[in-house]
Amino acid sequence: MSDFLGSNAADAPFGIAGYTETTYGDSFADVYDDWYADLNDADFMIGVVATLPAHNARILELGVGTGRLITQLLEQRSQFTDTIIGIDSSEAMLSVARGRSFPSHVELVCADFSRTLPDGPFDAIFVGYNTLFNLPDTDALLSCLSLVSQRLSPTGIFHIDAVMPMPDEVGDNVTVRTMTTNEVVLSISSHNADDQRITGQFVQFIHGGQTRLRPWSVRYWTPQQLDTHASTHGLTLLSRHGDGSGAQFTSSSPRHVSRYQRKGQ
Ligand SMILES: C[S@@+](CC[C@H](N)C(=O)[O-])C[C@H]1O[C@@H](n2cnc3c(N)ncnc32)[C@H](O)[C@@H]1O
Repeated sequence: MSDFLGSNAADAPFGIAGYTETTYGDSFADVYDDWYADLNDADFMIGVVATLPAHNARILELGVGTGRLITQLLEQRSQFTDTIIGIDSSEAMLSVARGRSFPSHVELVCADFSRTLPDGPFDAIFVGYNTLFNLPDTDALLSCLSLVSQRLSPTGIFHIDAVMPMPDEVGDNVTVRTMTTNEVVLSISSHNADDQRITGQFVQFIHGGQTRLRPWSVRYWTPQQLDTHASTHGLTLLSRHGDGSGAQFTSSSPRHVSRYQRKGQ
């Protein structure tokens, strides 16, 4: 692993020395809605909404960030007054979400979703755009899955939108994300397939401004590993598709939308 990464897992559970569960959100909150305005994942919320009951529901989002997905949820469920709770570890992200002035039936909570979740039961718990892979390790994933299983209603569904791991694209990588006359953003990343971890930094240079580092760390799991870990906590796979609209999932799908329910339902 590269020298700039933490060498000891105990010192650097996320693979970068000094990185914690708040680092991603705190580092990206000011640019997130701008940089990720063109994300092509609207099908995910459409798929979540398609499974919701035709009455007011209780819905929880893990890693709500700036509230991007809750905005879509509210638009699609405008005829209902669902209880919607979004949890995030970063106050900076939640501050952007609060700026959206959500209605009073939306609650935003600052907490680590692998350690604590609001009381259930929930008809739906969802985690979009690879956010589950923000967790540092399998212990954190298992803790999160245990909480999710406890908080789902008997017919509730846990929805995950996640990228398919690309174990062939290993090693260090540098690309240009943005280049204007006034600004350059370099994307620098390092992929360790043995650890199933990709760590990176966006390095932003703005003419006349200070250099800005925006670190990120992704610990990914394969769909099969997710199924096994979910099963440990009584969650069974209900469906898996290549997107939120029901596209067939194949070994070459770039992402998967997986839905779990408590066993025996
Ligand atoms: C990639 S962003 C996604 C935000 C939002 N779900 C979306 O799709 O736009 C991941 C979010 O998860 C939050 N996050 C990361 N780890 C977390 C944890 N352990 N507990 C709670 N939130 C976490 C980050 O602060 C960030 O806001």
